[in-house]
Amino acid sequence: MTGEEAYYGNPQSVAAMKRSAALWSLVRDDPRFAYYGRLVGLSQPVDDTADVLAALARVQGAAPCYFFPKTQTPALFAELEARGLSTDRHEHFLGGEEAYAVSRQALSDYAMPADLTVRELDADTPGCVVAETADLMESCEVMPVPAAMLRGQQRNGACLVATDEAGQPVATASSFFMHPTDGPHATTVFWGMLATRPDRRGEKIALLLGARMIVHMWEKKGARAFMTGVRESNASSTALCNRLGVYDTAYTYAVCVDAGTMGRKSVTK
Ligand SMILES: CC(C)(COP(=O)(O)OP(=O)(O)OC[C@H]1O[C@@H](n2cnc3c(N)ncnc32)[C@H](O)[C@@H]1OP(=O)(O)O)[C@@H](O)C(=O)NCCC(=O)NCCS
Repeated sequence: MTGEEAYYGNPQSVAAMKRSAALWSLVRDDPRFAYYGRLVGLSQPVDDTADVLAALARVQGAAPCYFFPKTQTPALFAELEARGLSTDRHEHFLGGEEAYAVSRQALSDYAMPADLTVRELDADTPGCVVAETADLMESCEVMPVPAAMLRGQQRNGACLVATDEAGQPVATASSFFMHPTDGPHATTVFWGMLATRPDRRGEKIALLLGARMIVHMWEKKGARAFMTGVRESNASSTALCNRLGVYDTAYTYAVCVDAGTMGRKSVTK
């Protein structure tokens, strides 16, 4: 795999992911941290959350703290902003056994449109297919993760893509283990990066790909909870998550951004 093929997205995102990959190579055994290819973040709050987030953001451009209580988010953000940093948040959605049951039901109730073929990206997938899948994410304002993640080579997980008869990606979904293996969230996996090409929306393609991903991760990989960050304003994503038993919680993804390093004030949609 060439260096050109390893990262996708706009130059700011690629630069941030290269910094985070370098940082992850140094801190991967530290039980405070979680990572699935975008940014090293805190797996959950720690005593000095603001200090750690600020340091991670200064190095990478941005850093999330997962499982951060909604009620404490305004105070954390005020503290970070007082240090000259920017902040951003996604609502912390989570699903468990109900998500697995609902996903199995969806797969038995509905079928993928007959012209689509679903494949899992792996080491043998042609680079152009991986790149076109990443392009689809990017065109739907979803930040793609590096090729090694999408191909399932870096962390345990998978990226599914549905392609049409011309071989073009129509929709995609991903899920990866991301938390420390000895911590309380060891079997809570990232699930998401759902994107459907605009001309194919409304055909239950994302529903079925998302469901397939949940069932795969539960049955084959031992995942027991599915987490994803949803912007409060993203009604279609919220509806899709809820449809699959993945709901908002009392937590946020509390994100600290060093706009000077990141080049912008948010990370992804
Ligand atoms: C969100 C997205 C992936 C949905 O793709 P899709 O293939 O059209 O979704 P589906 O047809 O499978 O819809 C499944 C369910 O999602 C919900 N849904 C999808 N689009 C919706 C919309 N525009 N408004 C409200 N609900 C919507 C519905 O509950 C639907 O179930 P139903 O058909 O039983 O009503 C697509 O709109 C997209 O790519 N958006 C941009 C990227 C994005 O926001 N991704 C999520 C990031 S977390």
